[in-house]
Amino acid sequence: MNNYQAPNDLLKGRVVLITGAGDGIGEQAAKTYAKHGATCILLGRTVSKLEKVYDYIVANGGEEPAIIPLDLKGATPAHYEQMAQTISEQFGKLDGVLHNASILGHLSAFKDIGEEEWRDVMQVNVNGCVFMTQALIPVLKKADNASVIFTTSSVGRKGRAFWGTYAVSKFATEGVMQTLADEYKNTGLRFNCINPGGTRTNMRAQAFPAENPETLKTPEDIMPMYLYLMGNDSVTVNGESLDCQPK
Ligand SMILES: NC(=O)c1ccc[n+]([C@@H]2O[C@H](COP(=O)([O-])OP(=O)(O)OC[C@H]3O[C@@H](n4cnc5c(N)ncnc54)[C@H](OP(=O)(O)O)[C@@H]3O)[C@@H](O)[C@H]2O)c1
Repeated sequence: MNNYQAPNDLLKGRVVLITGAGDGIGEQAAKTYAKHGATCILLGRTVSKLEKVYDYIVANGGEEPAIIPLDLKGATPAHYEQMAQTISEQFGKLDGVLHNASILGHLSAFKDIGEEEWRDVMQVNVNGCVFMTQALIPVLKKADNASVIFTTSSVGRKGRAFWGTYAVSKFATEGVMQTLADEYKNTGLRFNCINPGGTRTNMRAQAFPAENPETLKTPEDIMPMYLYLMGNDSVTVNGESLDCQPK
């Protein structure tokens, strides 16, 4: 589905929440979903970045987005409940979630992983997805065929030396997705993972500072899979972990 060609109106009438929508892959996903008709809810921690995405979408004729400023590091289930209630009141339903926001932490030997960093990475990458999804399920159920996409990584399937904290957070992400996919099968809700593969963003540059970014796919290049999983052409796909750049 990496050469999937989405119809222009794939997401018309659909309300989609994107976390980490201010930069990198999340920014591109928000712009792309809006271009295909979605009303986007832009969640992130840096409001100025979210506002730039908002302005871009409006300037390009997209549906007016909503902004949710939220730092997942400090977010609690109560924040997510409040958020779900606001979405329900404002939109009446939620057709999709792209759990995209994550942090890398520092790459280090396993023996050197610090407790504080471990907690921060798990809080943002895992707890954020878990408690946000829990709170959003009722409003997702109000939509026909809602799609929840989690973002994984190659190191979330096979561990890699020095990537301990981030890798374990992505293994957990795959586990959350599989559990939900099994629990909600045949309900109209579907849960899948997407693995972007090496993509030209700040996170990739942090992980591989010596790499020439020009050799990498851009966030725009990998959008076909993001569109496929969010739209109704993937309505029978549940419990899968799909690669944007298969080896
Ligand atoms: N790029 C790759 O090669 C690659 C490969 C495999 C998997 N992935 C995954 O793809 C996803 C997107 O990565 P990316 O490369 O686009 O990363 P990125 O450029 O670092 O962007 C991450 C986004 O998440 C937001 N974010 C980070 N911490 C947050 C927090 N505590 N609360 C709210 N928002 C927060 C960031 O906000 P700010 O803008 O405010 O920092 C940013 O908008 C991640 O899940 C990553 O693990 C990426």
